[in-house]
Amino acid sequence: MITHPAKPRVEVRVVQTDARFARRLAKMQAVIFPTLTDEELFSEEQYLHHIALFPDGQLTALVKYKDDKWVVAGSTVNFLTTWETAMEDHTFPDVIAHGWLDHHNPKGEWIYGADVSVHPEFHGMGVGSALYKARQQVVQRLNLRGEIAGGMIPGYQNYADVYRPDEYIWAVERGEVFDPTLSVQIKNGFHVNRVLYDYITDPRCDNCAAQIVRRNPFYMPVGA
Ligand SMILES: CC(C)(COP(=O)(O)OP(=O)(O)OC[C@H]1O[C@@H](n2cnc3c(N)ncnc32)[C@H](O)[C@@H]1OP(=O)(O)O)[C@@H](O)C(=O)NCCC(=O)NCCS
Repeated sequence: MITHPAKPRVEVRVVQTDARFARRLAKMQAVIFPTLTDEELFSEEQYLHHIALFPDGQLTALVKYKDDKWVVAGSTVNFLTTWETAMEDHTFPDVIAHGWLDHHNPKGEWIYGADVSVHPEFHGMGVGSALYKARQQVVQRLNLRGEIAGGMIPGYQNYADVYRPDEYIWAVERGEVFDPTLSVQIKNGFHVNRVLYDYITDPRCDNCAAQIVRRNPFYMPVGA
């Protein structure tokens, strides 16, 4: 069993992303994803565009911090897609339409998770899990079939001499290795569907990701 030192939990509140958070969220992107290229990071204008496109899918985590003030600690960006579209080969910049989410399909029954990100200062305090939980609630409220995403594997850099990316991903899924991102996603109920090669610019992951899926057990077919 993998254990780690407990970090203090903070009080977390997840709300729909508001336009006034856009600047701070855009600034946080480069800190959270230091290896990604500009076309893989969201700008302030793009956050505003996401809110206009699919407000239900844009969520921000606020934490009660010093002086009891609520501060922006993380967020998630999402759009709707179909299972068939998500299963086609794609790269991250393609699927997010270079940050604009223009492939958002209002009739799609799956959320495509374009991003879940927490500022490093707040890692390991339950903020990411609160975002995954809040997104699951959106999925249930909108009666969607579930969520699909490309889960990053930043921990692969420590195992590149031991495993190929696919072997590493399966070792993480089996719980033999802890990955700072994929393990958290698995803990939150996702399973690995396949390996996405050349998905994202990240030498830590050999540019690979794990395609992850979390189904909505409460999905009700329309007309049922
Ligand atoms: C991945 C990410 C969103 C997780 O957010 P987080 O707020 O750090 O995650 P949480 O604090 O909710 O931790 C989730 C679980 O992992 C556990 N965990 C965290 N670090 C651990 C470690 N080193 N060993 C074992 N378990 C660990 C936590 O204890 C927690 O489990 P619990 O709820 O049972 O206690 C965040 O680390 C992040 O933003 N990373 C960079 C960006 C990224 O990779 N985003 C995902 C793109 S696909």
